[in-house]
Amino acid sequence: MPGVHQMSVDVATDWLAERAEEGYGAYLIFGVIDRHKKDADGSAALDPDNVVCRLLRSVASQKLPMIGITDLCFCEYTDHGHCGPMTADGSTVANDETVSRLVHQALNHARAGASIIAPSGMMDGTVTALRAGLDANHFTDVSILAYAVKYASAFYGPFRDAADSAPAFGDRRSYQMDPARGVEEALHEALLDVEQGADMAMVKPAGPYLDVIRAVREVVRVPVVAYQVSGEYAMLEAAARNNWLDRDRAVLESLIAIKRAGADLIITYYAELLAKLIAR
Ligand code: PBG
Ligand code: ZN
Repeated sequence: MPGVHQMSVDVATDWLAERAEEGYGAYLIFGVIDRHKKDADGSAALDPDNVVCRLLRSVASQKLPMIGITDLCFCEYTDHGHCGPMTADGSTVANDETVSRLVHQALNHARAGASIIAPSGMMDGTVTALRAGLDANHFTDVSILAYAVKYASAFYGPFRDAADSAPAFGDRRSYQMDPARGVEEALHEALLDVEQGADMAMVKPAGPYLDVIRAVREVVRVPVVAYQVSGEYAMLEAAARNNWLDRDRAVLESLIAIKRAGADLIITYYAELLAKLIAR
């Protein structure tokens, strides 16, 4: 997708060093690996020398003043593209086995220097297990950004293309949320994660779910994070590239709407453009 690139560790480190110089404080990292390294369990996710851990160590060795946030999931590493190993009948992800593997993945990230762990798979009990696992290993200061309210959305399409992580069969509806359900379900999920110890609660996607962001903002007492996802970027970017929309104005308006809905933090592919627009 135009404007979106996969980076190797050396390129990403240099790129982050430039961003640190400009005053950016944090980055979110996703691991992308070759298809032939993927297997049914997503074993490469637990390799302490995988691309995510190597980048975290590289940033630490350069002493960049940047907070590393890691996406914690298996869909970029499984050959079937689901967010964890499947149950024996292949009908859905094996929840508890996935959760214990997520703890292992989180500890690898924490050891490599991650400050914030962001579990994105929507497996039940993830936050409780992560908090216990991190604390038991003296990572009490590592925070958890829970993908608390994550819809089974068509707007993740461009991301799945880039990460080669589209499910090979079925879909994510057995673990992600149904967009047609009421806001109550979103509040239930958000409160569950906060009770389990989440330091921040995310709503995703952002733009089509402003009502959900507002509702979550009113009930939880932790920062609410909204994620403007790849499909939201793709829509704006395609229109801007065709001169159907004024990019700067449309992007700013889309982000102001998310902020107005109640987001304390926003994750967006437009972070760099936004910084320029605000600085003006
Ligand atoms: C992994 C994950 C996804 C995204 C963030 N983490 C894909 C998915 O759930 O299929 C989507 C991000 C984006 O679209 O920008 N579970
Ligand atoms: Zn996933």
